[in-house]
Amino acid sequence: MKKILLSVAAVVAAAYSALAVAIVPQPQSIDKHQNAFVLLPSTTLVCASEEFAPLAAYLQEYIPVKYISKVAPKRNYVALSLVEGYDKEAYTLSVSRDRVEISASDYGGAFNGIQTLLQLLPSEVYTKQMSLPAVVRGCDVTDKPKFAYRGFMLDVARTFMTKENVLRYIDYIAYHKINKFHWHLTDNQGWRIEIKSHPDLAKKGGFRGDGSLLRPSLGRWTDIYGGYYTQEDIREVVAYAAVRNIEVIPEVDLPGHSEALLRVYPEMLCDYTNDELDINGNYDNRNVVCATKESNYKILEEILAEVCALFPSPFFHIGGDEVRMEQWKKCPNCSAWLKKRGYTDGYKLEDMFISRIQDILAKYGKTPAVWNEAAFGGGLDKSARVHGWKSPKVCKQVMMKGYPTIFMPQQFFYFDMAQSKREAGASWGGCFDVRKVYSFDFAKEGFTPEEVACVEGFEAPYWSEVFLSQGGDKNIDFIEYQTFPRLCALAELGWGKNGGNEWEEFHKRLYSRHYDRMADMGLNFRITPPTVKYEGGKLSIEKIDNGTIYYRTDDSEKIYKYSGAIATDKPGKYAFWCEYRGLKSPEVAHSSRYKTLQPNVKVTSSMPEDPKYGYDGVSTYKKRVMTACTCKKGDWILFEFDEPIVCRQAEFYTGRYNVPSGLIRVGYLEISEDGVNFERVADLNYGIAKVVNPRPIKAARIVAERDVVGSSKVWIGAPILYPKW
Ligand code: ACM
Ligand code: ZN
Repeated sequence: MKKILLSVAAVVAAAYSALAVAIVPQPQSIDKHQNAFVLLPSTTLVCASEEFAPLAAYLQEYIPVKYISKVAPKRNYVALSLVEGYDKEAYTLSVSRDRVEISASDYGGAFNGIQTLLQLLPSEVYTKQMSLPAVVRGCDVTDKPKFAYRGFMLDVARTFMTKENVLRYIDYIAYHKINKFHWHLTDNQGWRIEIKSHPDLAKKGGFRGDGSLLRPSLGRWTDIYGGYYTQEDIREVVAYAAVRNIEVIPEVDLPGHSEALLRVYPEMLCDYTNDELDINGNYDNRNVVCATKESNYKILEEILAEVCALFPSPFFHIGGDEVRMEQWKKCPNCSAWLKKRGYTDGYKLEDMFISRIQDILAKYGKTPAVWNEAAFGGGLDKSARVHGWKSPKVCKQVMMKGYPTIFMPQQFFYFDMAQSKREAGASWGGCFDVRKVYSFDFAKEGFTPEEVACVEGFEAPYWSEVFLSQGGDKNIDFIEYQTFPRLCALAELGWGKNGGNEWEEFHKRLYSRHYDRMADMGLNFRITPPTVKYEGGKLSIEKIDNGTIYYRTDDSEKIYKYSGAIATDKPGKYAFWCEYRGLKSPEVAHSSRYKTLQPNVKVTSSMPEDPKYGYDGVSTYKKRVMTACTCKKGDWILFEFDEPIVCRQAEFYTGRYNVPSGLIRVGYLEISEDGVNFERVADLNYGIAKVVNPRPIKAARIVAERDVVGSSKVWIGAPILYPKW
């Protein structure tokens, strides 16, 4: 029996060894050879080092070998060896017929070696149900990361994510040798950490919606929603991450982005002379902690001390971004503080605030990390780590001031941005896919090699404002889609590849091997859509990634497999996509599919118009317009056309769907052929109503069925009218 097993293994080994080695991120050096190792149920996992013991247990979850031993047998073993002389996080991995050996001088190095080993096995290893025998590709790898900080940030404040989902995410990033998890735990929309000395912070500040202290901004209006992590949950996440060589860095965003804190403790607000709400669209501008109230520092110390105790990281991110300085200027005490010192620049007061918090953190053994704005005032202590998010230029400016700087410019690394024009996602920082992430090139951004040597690392955030409109925590698939494969490119940059013109090689590694791994990890990653060409009356489609191309037409529900150019005089009728292992790329089509009619339209409403965004603006089909107030049950918006419009589909919009904000949450659409008699045809879904093949539309009316309590205004979009074919 053993003999048969071994000969089967030899055949499998030969076949598997013929496959390309395609590791992500690419190791510094790989020497390939034919001497593959065959992993058997009888293979021993050797680990003599106490320090590496958690790694042996971790590895055993993936490779189902029965024995762990401190001593190596003669052959047939996988060893994790603690050896002096390697750099931080560096390792070697040597595969021969007799054994696999990972050697490193530290935990991180051995963990990185394990991740490379997993990628030398069949992708099924990620299911934790790999069958044996399994072949490890024959090779010798010498490897280490270029950048010490390779991070990913998750915003669980705008949309709460369960602990289980966070743990899953930690696995995904660990597979890519990401070593920092920046946990954005508080923001205007939620406070997510249990604070035992101030229990209301999480119990009240962790929820928003009808009847709660926090307004339901950016989301649902009809129920209370949210959540928080107990201190026990936090300890579990930190410990889980530590096994996976990931340091968890907490963020409590101060002194701005603090609406959740300030709703629970309004006494921490500045002393406003009048207590009117100050709402900007959907944010309450009064989200800034008063910098000159001494009592605030006492409360903050009580809170921060508890958070410090939960996280072993020497760093603590305290925010510092987008502080609404005008709030401080409205405050008699904050404005007096500035005036007394002859300052007009609010950043000077931010410097003072941050330095007070820095002193508090120092008592608990922590160094602050901040967003780049906190370095603008000139007074931030040079020990603080700065996360540069505005642009590569700002990252460089901050770095040149001498701050250890993490590069995360929004234009390359904000994974909440949509990946193409018609996909869900935010848009204010750009619209880009994995190729753009990979294209980040220090030389193109004007960095010398000496300057690059001062960069501490990279990070990508996932901000979760848009996540809610995609189902929130019930649809974790959406964050996965936004993050992968963009995160693969970030991992590769962090490991030291300069992106740019190495794209073709990286892309091939992705689609030829890494997509299978991600599919077996259970990730809902994005498949690149195919390209569409229309020439000589024929539509021809080419795929970019691996996969099968399918298409549909507007005539039926049927799905067709694409098998060659399609002759047609109506190219826009066809929508194409690529599928790989059950995952579907976004649909693409000839540009004529997206052509719309733009007839004269007049908008009136039961709600008065905002003078700055008057209703006339809709007629240009370029602008969104705005009401001057929120809507009440029964409020309506009327769209009137000169002539009845014949179209194949009509869409009427309120609000900004993606965020979602400023929309009529509960309501319906009526249309009228004569402008007098209306018929209800669709309900609003996140502020939008669509009708397919409607009767000719002389007028359309959106009617609110509930008071909106989440937004101070309602956005109104131009109608989107697709012509008949
Ligand atoms: C940020 O995007 N406000 C850091
Ligand atoms: Zn103040």
